[in-house]
Amino acid sequence: MKFRLPALPFDEDALEPFLSREAIQAHYYGHHKAYIDKVNGFIDKLGLEGVSLEKLVLNYDGAVYDNAAQAWNHTFFWLGLAPTAKVLPDEAEMMRAINAQFGSLNGMKERFIEVASVLFGSGWTWLVTNDNGEIDIINTHNGDNPLRFERCHPLWCCDIWEHAYYIDYRFKRKDYLNAIWEHVNWEFVNECFHLKRIPNMTRLMLSEDRLNEQAGALLN
Ligand code: FE2
Repeated sequence: MKFRLPALPFDEDALEPFLSREAIQAHYYGHHKAYIDKVNGFIDKLGLEGVSLEKLVLNYDGAVYDNAAQAWNHTFFWLGLAPTAKVLPDEAEMMRAINAQFGSLNGMKERFIEVASVLFGSGWTWLVTNDNGEIDIINTHNGDNPLRFERCHPLWCCDIWEHAYYIDYRFKRKDYLNAIWEHVNWEFVNECFHLKRIPNMTRLMLSEDRLNEQAGALLN
């Protein structure tokens, strides 16, 4: 069993001007694919045939974990983005949780940007929820993945590695962090919130179908 680079859920220029086609191509075909290729190399080298991507993330350490987690994180990152953000109504359960925790959607965005801004070096900033439906914002370093944390369900993530924004924003991480909110796939975030389940990336990354066509089924 080998993993493939899952198709982007949008066209390569669909997020412009937030992210240019050049930036998407470098990130997706360069970085994301490289992590998947490395995982496949470890599968051969270490005899890990048949081990799911989730198990590689949860049960392995070192370079296997680093690359498997980065393969997972990037797929989740693309799933969380859309050409146009369609914000859910305030009375939706997730929006009520956001309002309760942060005062408003804008309050959550501001807090998210604050948290992401202080992440030193490379990593990810995540919207997560717990079993009680409370929403939190956390940073993880390098490829670290919240699947390893107990009762922590990822809802959305933002890639804070410089490779995610340097082509379009150079060193201005905050500009990237401000612009990304125009492209949040809130429908996907909402699905993750309600199901409090993690998309099955193994199934998704063995498929040739487009990510967005698969995502709904995987979340059921
Ligand atoms: Fe990345």
